Amino acid sequence: MKIQDLKEPSTISYGGLIEKIEILRSTLRWATSLDRPQIQKLLSQCNALREEVMQLSHKERFVTASAERTSSRKRSTAQRRQALLDRSFVFEGVFGESTKLLEALEIGEKAAPTDLPVLIDGESGTGKELMAKVIHANGSRSDKPYVSVNCGAIPENLIESELFGHKRGAFTGAASDRSGKFETADTGTIFLDEIGELPLQGQVKLLRVLQSQEIQRVGSDQVIDVDTRIVAATNKDLLQMSQEGLFREDLYYRLSVIHLTLPPLRERQDEIPLLIEYFSDEAAEKLNRQPLRFSRRLRTFLLKYDYPGNIRELRNLIYRISCLADATADYEHLPETIRPDVSKQKGDAAAKSEVFDLDKASLPDIKRAASDEAEKEFIEYGLQQVGGKVAELARQINMNRSHLQTLLKKHGIRSKDYRATAGSSPEK
Ligand SMILES: Nc1ncnc2c1ncn2[C@@H]1O[C@H](COP(=O)(O)OP(=O)(O)O)[C@@H](O)[C@H]1O
Ligand SMILES: [Mg+2]
Repeated sequence: MKIQDLKEPSTISYGGLIEKIEILRSTLRWATSLDRPQIQKLLSQCNALREEVMQLSHKERFVTASAERTSSRKRSTAQRRQALLDRSFVFEGVFGESTKLLEALEIGEKAAPTDLPVLIDGESGTGKELMAKVIHANGSRSDKPYVSVNCGAIPENLIESELFGHKRGAFTGAASDRSGKFETADTGTIFLDEIGELPLQGQVKLLRVLQSQEIQRVGSDQVIDVDTRIVAATNKDLLQMSQEGLFREDLYYRLSVIHLTLPPLRERQDEIPLLIEYFSDEAAEKLNRQPLRFSRRLRTFLLKYDYPGNIRELRNLIYRISCLADATADYEHLPETIRPDVSKQKGDAAAKSEVFDLDKASLPDIKRAASDEAEKEFIEYGLQQVGGKVAELARQINMNRSHLQTLLKKHGIRSKDYRATAGSSPEK
């Protein structure tokens, strides 16, 4: 063996090195020009070398793995979102970067390619149906049917027929044989929304689908095989319901092999500015209008409101406002049911009671809100002065640029809004 054979690349992996040592060992074994003791000596040196390289390679693998572990813990949600994008994850319009949402998406990503049942829970409007579509779109059944059934919207006596189909004459009104949603969704995914509304008898039949992938149409003895992946959603506490005898516990465990919980909007409040911006842009595009501007008090209201209807409510609000407002939106464009009563603000004490609700707010909260407001106004003023140039503003106020970017994001301020309008004073 020539020495050149060993020195080819300048960097070589441990695996490559071990391979070279193996070649050297087998060459030595058949070396005709060396005597036995010499061969034995070289072979044992080779073995020692091999052992050492193996040790090093284990160590390297360990270091890489633990570095990966720490980095996944340390990665920001933006990076995790980017990583999903890099893996060609289909978001289906899911927007947001909160830790809980990212966790749900990452679980969804792992669950998608399997056929395991997924149970999604969360309050109304948190995106459960959207998540079901995400799971379908990222799985191997994405080009197969996706059938959605709202178990709460179908009269109790028709739900079984809706899901499993019926035989002609099975009940009054069953004029002909009919297939159900499970058959329609065969080879694809069925989304069972509001699964907590499924009556007990339907639950028994659903359990059977999960156990043996077969259904029976109502009024028929014939067993039909179906291959349908089940994703179910609920805003109820199914375990609690099962303790009360309203939901079968065995079905609950079958459905929730993968269990995802979507966070209510009030637990991801820091995302509200981004969501407002996202839906404003979306609405402007759909309604073919200029992006909305908000009066300062409306913006404050939208940031502080607690959205019992979660993202659905926020989205609907922004669409409503985008439709009703001209250039600048204000309180008057809010639905009456949530519109702050401005008349109350007349008179000093009344105005204070609006801002300083003694039951709800604490002094630190009020200080924080005032400080946030001041921070925002300061940045908006600054951006106006520098014509929207973030780097320039960062330099002038002696702030780290990425910190300034974080603050822009926090307050939903877009530097580009200040580029064309430098000098004027946008309300946004
Ligand atoms: N993370 C999100 N990003 C963007 N839009 C969302 C998000 N979550 C929900 N939505 C939107 O909010 C509305 C309600 O979502 P949906 O999935 O129907 O909620 P749920 O089924 O939990 O009641 C839909 O218009 C949906 O597109
Ligand atoms: Mg829903």
